[in-house]
Amino acid sequence: MEARPACVPDDLHRKGRAHEDPLADRLLRLRNMTPDAARLISTLIRARRAPSVLEIGTSNGYSAIWFADALRDTGGRLTTLDIDADRVTATPATLERAGVQGYADVLHGDGADTLAATPDASVDLVVLDAERPAYADYWPHLRRVLGPYGILAVDNAVSHRDQLAAFRELLASDPDFAVDLHEVGDGVPTGVRIR
Ligand SMILES: C[S@@+](CC[C@H](N)C(=O)[O-])C[C@H]1O[C@@H](n2cnc3c(N)ncnc32)[C@H](O)[C@@H]1O
Repeated sequence: MEARPACVPDDLHRKGRAHEDPLADRLLRLRNMTPDAARLISTLIRARRAPSVLEIGTSNGYSAIWFADALRDTGGRLTTLDIDADRVTATPATLERAGVQGYADVLHGDGADTLAATPDASVDLVVLDAERPAYADYWPHLRRVLGPYGILAVDNAVSHRDQLAAFRELLASDPDFAVDLHEVGDGVPTGVRIR
């Protein structure tokens, strides 16, 4: 039987998709990751027994529900942040409805600023699901903040292959990371810090 959080409101993802179809402006869309991608990352959280997970790009908290549900099992905590203040204001109530509010902090902030302010080796798993062209500039901080056997997971590597090409090249050419591409959902590359 597939692992899935009993707490995820079954229709949240469907509503997200329905909400965004008519909207022309990409930045107004909720752009939830697929259930398969969220399931894969929640499995990584459990397998890593990750105490500390950082998600950049909260949207309406759909993926955060999956991750917080896994962190309930590992005794850990999610920090999820978004640059959109309205989304940050709305998401805690969604997490509360899903019963996972005790395992996540929802912050208003910019991914680059947050990573720059994050201490060395203090995060066990980072999820990137924000503006893809910025990720290459995140890389020096990402490799700094991930602790030993820390994991980086990124959404949309297949759906937006070109936008992620430079970033994936940086990841693949770093000998301290073991890299894979998981062809689930919109494509999820991972990098595990092995040194
Ligand atoms: C693809 S959606 C996130 C979807 C969410 N992870 C999910 O699966 O439910 C991208 C989000 O990133 C946010 N974002 C864009 N640029 C950002 C930045 N520089 N720092 C933090 N969040 C950002 C957007 O406001 C948007 O809500």
